[in-house]
Amino acid sequence: MKLSTVGFLAGLASLSLARHCQNLTVPVTISSQNNVYNLKAPKTNIDVTNFILNLVQPGKNYGQSIQNGTKTVSGTYHIAATLCSPDWGHSDTVQFLTHGIGFDRSYWDNSFNNHNYSYTQVANDKYGYSTFSWDRLGIGASQHGEPVNEIQAMLEVEAIHALTVLLRQGKISGCEKAFKKVVHIGHSFGSVQSYALTVKYPTDSDGLGLTGFSQNATYIPYFGLGGNFVQANLNPALKGYVDGYLAAGDASAVQTNFFAPDQFDPKFLAYATKTGQPVTIGELLTIGIVSQPINKFAGPVLIITGERDIPFCGGNCAIPVPPYPNVVAAAQKTLPNAKNFKAVLVPKAGHGLNYDYSHPYTYQSINGYFAKYVPA
Ligand SMILES: *[C@@H]1O[C@H](CO)[C@@H](O)[C@H](O)[C@H]1NC(C)=O
Ligand SMILES: *[C@@H]1O[C@H](CO)[C@@H](O)[C@H](O)[C@H]1NC(C)=O
Ligand SMILES: *[C@@H]1O[C@H](CO)[C@@H](O)[C@H](O)[C@H]1NC(C)=O
Ligand SMILES: *[C@@H]1O[C@H](CO)[C@@H](O)[C@H](O)[C@H]1NC(C)=O
Repeated sequence: MKLSTVGFLAGLASLSLARHCQNLTVPVTISSQNNVYNLKAPKTNIDVTNFILNLVQPGKNYGQSIQNGTKTVSGTYHIAATLCSPDWGHSDTVQFLTHGIGFDRSYWDNSFNNHNYSYTQVANDKYGYSTFSWDRLGIGASQHGEPVNEIQAMLEVEAIHALTVLLRQGKISGCEKAFKKVVHIGHSFGSVQSYALTVKYPTDSDGLGLTGFSQNATYIPYFGLGGNFVQANLNPALKGYVDGYLAAGDASAVQTNFFAPDQFDPKFLAYATKTGQPVTIGELLTIGIVSQPINKFAGPVLIITGERDIPFCGGNCAIPVPPYPNVVAAAQKTLPNAKNFKAVLVPKAGHGLNYDYSHPYTYQSINGYFAKYVPA
């Protein structure tokens, strides 16, 4: 074989791993029934801490105590998203990826260490799935909004619903593919929203992958306190956000909430701190509301959470919750119709699964599960 032919074949071999990604701006026209809270957006960091202290008080329901009815919020919102597909084109099934608090959609395809921790690269190139990741409504490059009574979980769930419908119809401008199946995969608050989507629209989804999740709310206050939340716009990188958007106060806060001892590259902590994104007051007040109802969803459900997850397990997910083997598996009782329900603990990992050394195990567990039940 001539050297030039070898070079040509080698070129083909590397091309076979060349997935295609495109950034999209998608307008969605949505409306939701939001809660109205008698609360002004905090002005100072003292106001922010006061809010968190009110939010985490056991034996009280702060949200309920400041609620004054509901109102319909509606509008057309611009959503920033990234669609990636294997080099041979779009798959029939798309994974719809929703990030959690503290991140934007780069959580699924972060550039750290030459994209070595990229979830989407594994899903696209190794498992042949198309992936659609979006910045939560109100966050990152998606349209921002009023942080108390507008950007709440209920409105964000409507955005997921609208985007899901567009993906199935092939009506996303820049992507004419009508996907046959949509699997919703979330991280943390993104899992809560994916769960809530299938409570309200059970036929929207062909499968649920809830990462960094459980149905145990006991330890959510750890996350509120551990996050050392401050007004986001005091950080120059986040100065575009209005008062009422909160961000982690320092690297130690990010470490406490997302990283488990000895399971991460310290440089990644610096990266995660630098690229962190905020959460709104309205989101923090409504997380518990959308995740509560029993979910009649009748498709496959995988829950995968770090053994040392702070917000959803208090740092130890392995504690048995009879008759369930652990805190994560106990979520099965809120998903009575789930098919092939599976709960996985990632040994030693923290809440930010994609940023831990164990990410290859996590990515393989998620994609291996869906390859079996909702193939690409
Ligand atoms: C999409 O946007 C992100 C963030 O602005 C950027 O880093 C990335 O290179 C863009 N990707 C493509 C395929 O244009
Ligand atoms: C509650 O809302 C109503 C109408 O929107 C308003 O008239 C009333 O003053 C509010 N109550 C409080 C306690 O703010
Ligand atoms: C990616 O991570 C693997 C395993 O941790 C390591 O062997 C490899 O060198 C890394 N690649 C890059 C580009 O950093
Ligand atoms: C939450 O987890 C703890 C163990 O950390 C357990 O004792 C408790 O029963 C769980 N609560 C629910 C509602 O499952």
